[in-house]
Amino acid sequence: MADVTLRNVNKRFGAVEAVRDLSLTVSDGEFLVLLGPSGAGKTTTLRLITGLESPDAGSVMIDGRDVTHDPPGSRDIAFVFQQYSLYPHLTVYDNLAFPLRSPARRVAEPIIRKRVEQTAELLHIASKLNNRATRLSGGEMQRVAIGRALVRDPSIYLMDEPLSSLDAKLRAELRLELKRIQIELGATILYVTHDQVEAMTMASRIGVIRDGQLLQLGTPREIYESPSSSYVASRLGTPQINFLPARLLADVAMPAGTETVGIRTEHLQLAARNGGQMVGRVHRVEHLGEQNHIHLDYKGETLVTLADPHQPLQAGQEVDLHLVHPLCFDRTGQRIAAAVH
Ligand SMILES: Nc1ncnc2c1ncn2[C@@H]1O[C@H](COP(=O)(O)OP(=O)(O)OP(=O)(O)O)[C@@H](O)[C@H]1O
Ligand SMILES: [Mg+2]
Repeated sequence: MADVTLRNVNKRFGAVEAVRDLSLTVSDGEFLVLLGPSGAGKTTTLRLITGLESPDAGSVMIDGRDVTHDPPGSRDIAFVFQQYSLYPHLTVYDNLAFPLRSPARRVAEPIIRKRVEQTAELLHIASKLNNRATRLSGGEMQRVAIGRALVRDPSIYLMDEPLSSLDAKLRAELRLELKRIQIELGATILYVTHDQVEAMTMASRIGVIRDGQLLQLGTPREIYESPSSSYVASRLGTPQINFLPARLLADVAMPAGTETVGIRTEHLQLAARNGGQMVGRVHRVEHLGEQNHIHLDYKGETLVTLADPHQPLQAGQEVDLHLVHPLCFDRTGQRIAAAVH
C-alpha cells in the first residue's frame, strides 16, 4: 500500500477554519485514527486527502507524490463516507461489485464474484446479496458501504466514522474484524471517529484533533498516559478523568506552576477512614455489573472513580483518598510532566 502525508494544510469555509496548519503522515501499513468531537475538521481532512476539497494552503502527498492538484479519480483511494451512499436501485451484490466494474479496472466477472462473496462473508451480509440496497437496516447499509471499500485494493483506505450507526454488539465485532483485516492486508487506514474505544482498540497511533488543529499524535498508550494537555486527557478514559484545582490539595507535593490536577481512576485509591489528609464522602454508588462507579464529594467538587463491586461502600460514608501519580496541568491546561509523589 502507500503512505500519505499532509504538509501544513489549511482549509477555511468562510469564517470557519475547518483545518489549521495540519501536518501528518500516515505510514504504509498503519492504522491511524483521528479522534475529535463534532466539528473538529475530521471529515474535511479526509475530503482534502481524496481531493473532494482542495486546500487553501499546504500540500497532500501520496507515496511521495504531490497530489494536491490532482483530480480525485487519479488518487487511488477508497473512501467510506460518514453518510453511506449506496446505489438504491442496485442489489447489495451490485453495490459491492460496482467499484470493481469501473472501465478503468477491467476485473473479470469470476474474480468480481469471488471478491464480493468474500467481502460479504466477512461483513456478515452474505445472505443479503440479492436484496435491493434500500431493503436493509441502517447497520447493514453501513456494512455494504465498508464492503465497497474492502473489495478494492487501493493505496489507502479513508474511513469516516464507519461504525457509528451499528448497535453496540456489532460495533464491537466489526472493530475486531476491521483491525484483523487491516493487519492481514497490511492496509494503510486513516480512520476518523469521536469514539475513544474505537481509537484505543484499533489505532497504531491516535491523532487528537480539535477546532481543526492536531493537538497530539502518539500511540494509544502515549496519549492515555502522557497527554499533552487537560483537553487531550479528557478525551480518553472511562469514567472521564477528574480535574481538581491544585489549591484544594494543599498537602500534596506537586511541580511548581500546577493549577489543576487530573485524576484518573487509577490515580485514586479509596480506603476506610484512618486519619488520612484527604477525606471524601461517597455520594452515590452506581452498579455496572462487573464494577461500580463511585461518585465522591471532596471539598465541594465531585470525583468519579471505579471500585470493585465487593468493596463495601455506601452513600454517605467517609473514605480516605490517596492520590497515586496524578497528572498535573498549568493554568493554560498544558501538562507539566513531573508526577506528584
Ligand atoms: N462545505 C462546507 N461549508 C461550510 N462549512 C463547512 C463545510 N464543511 C464543513 N464545514 C465546517 O467546518 C468545520 C469542520 O467540519 P467537519 O465536517 O470536518 O467536522 P467533523 O469533525 O467531521 O464533525 P462530525 O463529527 O460532526 O462529522 C465545521 O465547523 C463545519 O461546520
Ligand atoms: Mg464528519
